[in-house]
Amino acid sequence: MAGKTLKIASIPGDGTGPEVTAEAMKVLQAVASLDNIVYDVEPLDWGGERYLKTGEIIPEGGLDLLRSKDAIFLGAIGHPDVAPGILEKGLLLDLRFKLDQYINLRPVKLLPGVETPLAGRGPADIDFVVVRENTEDLYCGVGGYLKKGTPDEVAVQQAVYTRKGCERCIRWAFEYTQKRNSPKKMLTLVAKTNVLTYGHDLWWRTFQEVAKEYPDVKTDYNHVDACCMWMVKNPDFYDVIVTTNMFGDIITDLGGILQGGMGVAAGGNLNPDAGGVSMFEPMGGSAPKYTGQNVINPIAAINAMAMLLEHSGYPTAGKRIDKAVAQVTGTKMKSQAAGKMGYGTREVGDLVVAALS
Ligand code: IPM
Ligand code: MN
Repeated sequence: MAGKTLKIASIPGDGTGPEVTAEAMKVLQAVASLDNIVYDVEPLDWGGERYLKTGEIIPEGGLDLLRSKDAIFLGAIGHPDVAPGILEKGLLLDLRFKLDQYINLRPVKLLPGVETPLAGRGPADIDFVVVRENTEDLYCGVGGYLKKGTPDEVAVQQAVYTRKGCERCIRWAFEYTQKRNSPKKMLTLVAKTNVLTYGHDLWWRTFQEVAKEYPDVKTDYNHVDACCMWMVKNPDFYDVIVTTNMFGDIITDLGGILQGGMGVAAGGNLNPDAGGVSMFEPMGGSAPKYTGQNVINPIAAINAMAMLLEHSGYPTAGKRIDKAVAQVTGTKMKSQAAGKMGYGTREVGDLVVAALS
């Protein structure tokens, strides 16, 4: 990628978002000089504060600005003075939908030195990836009320699944499993075909059909409830999971805690199509109570930056960060919990930078 400028839009957002974003940017700067990456970061002040001041979430022209970038880095959204749902819908979900980021890629990898709540399990047992569909299902906002506010109130919230939507996600997951090329080389569909006999039947049939194009990838199916049990009992069973938006949301919080919690879990909202713009984020929220105290864990944000580089054409830099992070968690940090790391937020960022070269 020599000669090219990597153009990043940065939305640090609310609460501790700016603090963890600053550490991710510090690591980017260091890795860029080691790997000769020319980049440019445009910071955007979108989030709760701006919304409270202006009433605006995504300002006019904002989407086009993002479309002109190579990638987006998102710190965290969620503000104590803004009602739940407004920023989530108006910023995070809106960007996922309008930029058609139809893959939510969430690695579940236990790093060395990181504590998992699963007794007797270590990094060799917990290393799988969830591919979550990111634009359909219960998230599409289709529904309504009848007789709202009366004792006869009816609320309908519909799950929408399309052939195109599930097929592109499933196909991407097969490609990803093939490229990941782990000894298991197995893609597990997680759904609920025994109850969601229309929508998840569509997923099931599509999965079977697309599987024929990838004879070297083993396939498996789990109902989502059983999957939760297996993730705890036998996490080593999984290689790649592909699942619907709502179930993917739920099982990736379970996955997040298996890998040490929200201090380390990161994800990418990918639009893998030509010209698509993807967005990378630590999975944790804005953690308002820790704001400004230099106690929040920046590792998830740094992991998100590694994913950004990996998926923007700089895999060497991404892997370099992964290695440095594993060294820091494995040899330095006491815990991944806010305030218990044995270091402050900025010091953890410095440790990762020092471990890069
Ligand atoms: C996530 C979050 C979001 C989701 C919320 C904040 C809308 O939980 O990224 O997993 O449900 O997708
Ligand atoms: Mn979630």
